[in-house]
Amino acid sequence: MDMITIDQEKCVKDGICAAECPTLIINAQKGFPEIVKGAQSFCINCGHCVAVCPTAALSHKNLSPEDCMQINKEMLPAPEQMELFLRNRRSIRAYKKKQVPKDILQQIITIASHAPSGHNRQPVQWHVIYERDELTQLCGHVIDWMKWMIKEKPDMAKAMELELVVAGYEAGSDILTRGTPHLILAHGNKHDFSSESSCTIAMTWLELALPSFGLGGCWCGYFNAATMFWPPLQAALGLPKNNLSYGAMMVGYPKFAYHRIPPRNKAVITGL
Ligand SMILES: Cc1cc2nc3c(=O)[nH]c(=O)nc-3n(C[C@H](O)[C@H](O)[C@H](O)COP(=O)(O)O)c2cc1C
Repeated sequence: MDMITIDQEKCVKDGICAAECPTLIINAQKGFPEIVKGAQSFCINCGHCVAVCPTAALSHKNLSPEDCMQINKEMLPAPEQMELFLRNRRSIRAYKKKQVPKDILQQIITIASHAPSGHNRQPVQWHVIYERDELTQLCGHVIDWMKWMIKEKPDMAKAMELELVVAGYEAGSDILTRGTPHLILAHGNKHDFSSESSCTIAMTWLELALPSFGLGGCWCGYFNAATMFWPPLQAALGLPKNNLSYGAMMVGYPKFAYHRIPPRNKAVITGL
């Protein structure tokens, strides 16, 4: 089976599919587009050739135009809406004691899975710690890791202010996970060159998707650091062998609303 098929009645030979192909494997210079001989293996399955064709003339062996979500351009945000949306994102550190329905979390994770990934490898996998009781148990391992760090790597522990976190936690304040009902991890194979950046980007997308569902989130750096280094926590999490978590996000219904957007440092820009 050919990698691409062209509906010759629809194709207007505009060459857009070839111009947009990231690996330049489509030749549209002579007649209808075709895959350059012997170049099939360079396809990264990004679907751009199908998605960009104005006349829906091109199908890929793994994807037809009907498989793609339609774009309602009127629903896309204007620059000022996007500015407000992005500036309005806040790290949320106080949550209602209310679980988020599983299908909502699934929907948000699916949205975040559309984030870019190096070479379209899509290496990101997700692990949801849904039950608060389980999360509290896992936090016990994080605190054990912090105590080990304080003893064995005092300089690093000092830089990370781990003594404060442990003392606060043991005094009953959940500095680690801020009472979040859920924690979501983005993890990937540590041998895949794109895992770390892809997980970070996908988790960023997940955080951005939360407010439109009435939810909020906060990166959970301490928890994630412990997942990298503390075998008992790794064993309790049971992520696939060779996978590391590259981002942890608290997720829940915010207890409070923000009314103002705090300023940030002026962007340092060169070249403009
Ligand atoms: C990688 C990363 C790790 C973070 N870890 C934590 C954390 O462990 N606990 C926490 O309360 N906030 C954490 N934060 C949130 C930052 O403190 C927050 O982004 C910053 O204070 C700015 O506030 P804003 O996100 O509302 O703009 C983390 C943020 C990032 C990007």
